[in-house]
Amino acid sequence: MALDLPAGPRAPAAWQTVAWMARPGAFLRRVHERFGDPATIRTYWTEEPMVLFSAPEAVRDVFRLDPAIAPAGQSWEFLRPFAGPHSILLLDGEDHLRERRLMQAPFHGERMRAFAPAVADLARRELSSWSGPVTTLERMRHLTLEIILRVVFGASGEREAAPLRAAIEGTLGDVRSLPRMLAMALVQRDLGPRSPWGRFRLAVERFDSLLLDFVARRRAEPNGDSVLALLLEQRDEDGNAATDRHLRDQLVALLVGGHDSSAASLAWAFERLARHPSVHARMAAGDDEYLDAVVKEVLRARPALTIAPRRLLEPAPIGGRTIPAGVQVAACLWLAMRREDLWLRAGAFWPERWLEDGSPHPLSWIPFGGGVRRCAGAPFAEMEMREVLRGAAELTIRPVRPEPERARRSMLVVTPDRGGEVLVG
Ligand code: HEM
Repeated sequence: MALDLPAGPRAPAAWQTVAWMARPGAFLRRVHERFGDPATIRTYWTEEPMVLFSAPEAVRDVFRLDPAIAPAGQSWEFLRPFAGPHSILLLDGEDHLRERRLMQAPFHGERMRAFAPAVADLARRELSSWSGPVTTLERMRHLTLEIILRVVFGASGEREAAPLRAAIEGTLGDVRSLPRMLAMALVQRDLGPRSPWGRFRLAVERFDSLLLDFVARRRAEPNGDSVLALLLEQRDEDGNAATDRHLRDQLVALLVGGHDSSAASLAWAFERLARHPSVHARMAAGDDEYLDAVVKEVLRARPALTIAPRRLLEPAPIGGRTIPAGVQVAACLWLAMRREDLWLRAGAFWPERWLEDGSPHPLSWIPFGGGVRRCAGAPFAEMEMREVLRGAAELTIRPVRPEPERARRSMLVVTPDRGGEVLVG
């Protein structure tokens, strides 16, 4: 029996998949214009059709779904060999909440602010070498990985950082490439060390032994401030410290969650700033409140993640209608943050809105998702963006071509299609 779902494009799933990957912004806009809210899309991205919601009441309903009937962890199943059994990404319900409490401790208040100088220092070092044409996405992937290695993991010196960096680039190279991912998802069997899956498993094993050695060394010889140092202090309800394997899974979750998403958001920041010299000039004047407004506006106008999906195991009321079991429902972050009825000049890049308009509706600015799965690293991500943009304010940048860059999907994140290219100097 056909499911009773909101209307959506009739084009074959293959066509919708191509649009979703190659032109996600234009695809979502067209779907919204043609079918309104909610709308159902069909792509190879998920096995089930996906119902997208962007109205605040419906977004609230999605974020409040009981994890027992709408687990989010299952969507990350393909990452299990890399993420590990303790991973916050894969857990649901009570286990997930317990893991969140442990993992979020380092990201609160003073403890978090203590990381800002180290991030600022790494950002300054990166930006000081820029001159001429720069593909900011590439450089930001490098910088955000460096920040994770030095500030989150606490690797000190090149001797510790270099092998970890090389192993991560090897492993993530496989996870990031979509054709390889699809090939691996289809053939999740070890067909020997030369098959994509076999190579991936070997890369993960090499990375694991490095990371476990590293965690054991840090436990034996703590070395100052890092997210790992704070995670090493954590104790569960029974007073037990986390095992090395558990800490390994926590570091990998922070890496998977925090690397490409931050790099994409920063590349978008450069793409937008290069085309808005007055915003860049005002940022250079050194006003922290304005800097914060620029960060919020980049995350609103060009969110790195377009949806927060949940798979429905039972029918559930969302936005005033019952959605049947067996489909994916998603808060569409991209659409919610550019609804004309919620945002003045929704399509404009206009940080001043944050100073003049006051706070937006809490369910309309949702770049970090929401509910129990809201981004666990959001305060870190915002701090990181502020520190990098503070350094960028001192550069002179122009776009390589005047027209805005379009959005395209690179695995899980949406990036500028020419990599956020700018001319520096
Ligand atoms: C601008 C950069 C970032 C953006 C736009 C972003 C966005 C998101 C979004 C949309 C989700 C899913 C929320 C949901 O399903 O409701 C998420 C989850 C997550 N993010 Fe981020 N994120 C960013 C940076 C970071 C950083 C820097 C870290 C870690 C240091 C991080 C760690 C995580 C983790 C661990 C989760 C999984 C949370 C869970 O399942 O409970 N993220 N992020």
